[in-house]
Amino acid sequence: LFSAVEMAPRDPILGLNEQFAADPRPNKVNLGVGVYYDDEGKLPLLQCVQLAERALMEKPAARGYLPIDGIAAYDNAVKALVFGAASEPVQSGRVATVQAIGGTGGLKIGADFLKKLQPGAQLLISDPSWENHRALFTQAGFEVGTYAYYDAAQRGLNFAGMLASLEAAAPGTVVLLHACCHNPTGYDLTPAQWAQVVAVVKARGLTPFLDMAYQGFGHGIVEDGAVIQQFVAAGLDLLVSTSFSKSFSLYGERVGALSVLCASKDEAARVLSQLKIVIRTNYSNPPTHGGAIVAVVLNDPKLRELWEHELGEMRVRIKHMRQQLVAGLKAAGVAQDMGFITEQIGMFSYSGLSKEQMLRLRGEFGVYGTDTGRMCVAALNSHNIGHVCRSIAAVV
Ligand code: LMR
Repeated sequence: LFSAVEMAPRDPILGLNEQFAADPRPNKVNLGVGVYYDDEGKLPLLQCVQLAERALMEKPAARGYLPIDGIAAYDNAVKALVFGAASEPVQSGRVATVQAIGGTGGLKIGADFLKKLQPGAQLLISDPSWENHRALFTQAGFEVGTYAYYDAAQRGLNFAGMLASLEAAAPGTVVLLHACCHNPTGYDLTPAQWAQVVAVVKARGLTPFLDMAYQGFGHGIVEDGAVIQQFVAAGLDLLVSTSFSKSFSLYGERVGALSVLCASKDEAARVLSQLKIVIRTNYSNPPTHGGAIVAVVLNDPKLRELWEHELGEMRVRIKHMRQQLVAGLKAAGVAQDMGFITEQIGMFSYSGLSKEQMLRLRGEFGVYGTDTGRMCVAALNSHNIGHVCRSIAAVV
């Protein structure tokens, strides 16, 4: 039965972890996967998470099945975070939110739901996009195309190209947009550019699907989520996937959500019933622990404040590392201006290095980034940055 099964290629991001783990070199640096490490190279366990876990342990609860759509207090907290607790969509009950297995799970629930709703719809992702976007939506049955996004020559956004791509899209096309901290390039739209995108999406009758995996890593929680308000103000229906993997440093707990903004409360109830079918037929219902932690933190004013503070510290340290990287590369003898690294935002820097250079970095120096030239600057620290700068200088 399985004799004809072919060996699949390694995952372009998570596959690097396996290679990194097997690398015996003591000075190896993993800038492949999007994970934040502190200045000691350790994965943080946030204080707010520890306090929430303590509170949960003080009242031990049995582990029954959760409702198909997850913990109600969690779903409500996500709605408030994404749209604003006092916002009209939340107050009028026209948002359907389900707990999901990470941001990826939120995307997949949305993909399966949309595919059933509009089997013939096309889907566009940015060029380039997170490697798993294409794979995930292709697996869900979509024909995946791209809209222009990155301008390699100018090191920035090809905004005119992006608008032109969206203007050329057929009505009903699903457009996957990065709400903030674009992965992999680190280049985001300005609020004024978002306004233009929203106008085109509306005029062309496209379906916006926002991936919000890095809320809080750009400029702040409110600032990074502001684009959602623009879509709401335009009166558009939309889907938003949320991830707490990064912002709570809860990678392994797989805590995410999908929110669908509908035209009315009645519509939201019907959409929710369909999302529940997608969940039930895939994994029945979500796991308890991670969602419970996030619900406790987001619903407790003190813990929430602590979370925002801790998230702010991560954001500031990443920005500092970007500056150190630019200075370090110059000191290591890189002649070209690498200042663009500080203009990028979020966890990643799209370095502009070729696949060949990335393979050399990995093979000769034990510095791991993706083949496409993406490096996770959130994994840089004062101990490894010198080695990284010297290694990059040696290959450029
Ligand atoms: C990344 O882009 O590295 C992260 O989103 C982790 C992942 O699952 O790929």
